[in-house]
Amino acid sequence: MKLPSQNPTKTKAWKALQEHFSAIKNQSLKDLFVSDSKRGSELSIKWEDFYVDYSKNIIDTTTKRLLLDLAKEVGLPQAMESYFAGETINATEGRAVQHVALRAPKGKTITIDGVNIVDEVAQVKEKIKGFTEKVISGTHKGYTGKAITDIVNIGIGGSDLGPVMITEALEHYKNHLKVHFISNIDGDHVHQNLKKFDAETTLFVVVSKSFGTQETLSNAITARKWFVEKAGGSEAVSKHFVAVSSNVQKVTDFGIDPNNIFPLWDWVGGRFSLWSAVGLSVALSIGFEQFDELLAGAHDMDEHFKNTDFEENIPVLLGLLSVWYNNFFEAETEALIPFNQYLHRLPAYLQQGIMESNGKGVDRNGDTIDYQTGTIIWGEPGTNSQHAFFQLIHQGTKIIPTEFIGFKKSLFGDKEHHDKLMANYFAQTEALMNGKTQEEVLAELKEKNMSQDQIDTLAPFKVFKGNRPTTSLLIEKLTPKSLGKLVAMYEHRIFVQGIVWNIYSYDQWGVELGKQLASNILSEIDANKVAEHDSSTTNLLNEFLN
Ligand code: F6P
Repeated sequence: MKLPSQNPTKTKAWKALQEHFSAIKNQSLKDLFVSDSKRGSELSIKWEDFYVDYSKNIIDTTTKRLLLDLAKEVGLPQAMESYFAGETINATEGRAVQHVALRAPKGKTITIDGVNIVDEVAQVKEKIKGFTEKVISGTHKGYTGKAITDIVNIGIGGSDLGPVMITEALEHYKNHLKVHFISNIDGDHVHQNLKKFDAETTLFVVVSKSFGTQETLSNAITARKWFVEKAGGSEAVSKHFVAVSSNVQKVTDFGIDPNNIFPLWDWVGGRFSLWSAVGLSVALSIGFEQFDELLAGAHDMDEHFKNTDFEENIPVLLGLLSVWYNNFFEAETEALIPFNQYLHRLPAYLQQGIMESNGKGVDRNGDTIDYQTGTIIWGEPGTNSQHAFFQLIHQGTKIIPTEFIGFKKSLFGDKEHHDKLMANYFAQTEALMNGKTQEEVLAELKEKNMSQDQIDTLAPFKVFKGNRPTTSLLIEKLTPKSLGKLVAMYEHRIFVQGIVWNIYSYDQWGVELGKQLASNILSEIDANKVAEHDSSTTNLLNEFLN
């Protein structure tokens, strides 16, 4: 079954939303809370260890109803059926999209081309389990008989960002293995890293779904060369190099032992692959059982998304809110602020997830789109971000819907620190909503023993308009399981938004052109001869070559 294809702007719901937007766009959030004392609980969801409060958004019950109408009118329920049934919803690449199968419990059936992929996943998980146990316990020895101490993940994009983000996020749960990540083609990056390793105790995990990515192959070749020099030959490579890929032939051609290949399938998109063997470095770092907990958490969110009424469905509602700001308020970006230092790579990880998926300008009929799609996402942990860019969110000219992620409990249990951190988490959303009126500013300045002149001059700069929308996710504690839920929630939101915008979220043709041009230019650099370009590129190249 094909995904439904409906231009969202031509729906009844969209038109109704446009009219409704004119009526509500200047609505004061503060007033909405005053007029409905239950707003906070009406516009929030309690689910397992998550409390999601979306009441500080510029919406009312009509907005919610119309957004849900839009979801139905564009065929979200049917699209979800196709998604979960393993249909070929990545039509431009002719693939199913089944990262949910990677975390489906054993015994479940999801078939693609007549094969139960849950069984295939289980086999690879067994392989991950066996291998990680050997490395962690020290049974897997390096070429001189020493146990492995350092894991080096070589990959880029989805073969790097997910593993890095999760490894960092779950640092508290990790074992003795030190995990490193090499991604950039920048030779300084790989050489700087190699300086840190001892070949006798280092395991390289080369991750590339295609095994054709220039960065990963170049870095893997450099690492292998370094290793062979240190080890005095290539016999020991099999003890120190494993690969994760869907391209077994290319991995074997590269010189990695076929027994050391952890397979991947074409129905797993790179940016959704951390749940597969792409997460091997995560499993090595926290052990298989906790890796499995991460998957279990994601599965819980899959079930929530699949089975919960849209009214209470976290990915559906938050996805629709993004559409609301993107397409009606014309918000240019969205900020994501985890009040948790461990989650410092979450925004970078989601930049790939969200922007590579939904940064599309052609709809599912192949027609150019004349409305906004993919949101721009950015962020840094709180409270650091408060001392960096929050000024612009508070008083700048742009509307930036901001998402706050906080945890009730800290990991080390330092209550004093945690209370201070969370006081900021709560205070910021209040400040962004309430702002500070001129009267409040004047009253405050009057207390300060200033002249009326000084007060009048300073007052306008201290006024905060407020009415800045925020959503708060309050989660019990950062654990492998809750993190799995959180990440899966964003994955499903990407799907929801892609369906509403009538785009294909699971291809990424836009990244190809740059790769092709770089390969042509590399030939010119190798030949030291600049071909015909625009005068800017020609000058730059000549400058580089001279
Ligand atoms: O260039 C973009 C991309 O294809 C991403 O989608 C992907 O995650 C990344 O490159 C790495 O690809 P691979 O795992 O095949 O090396």
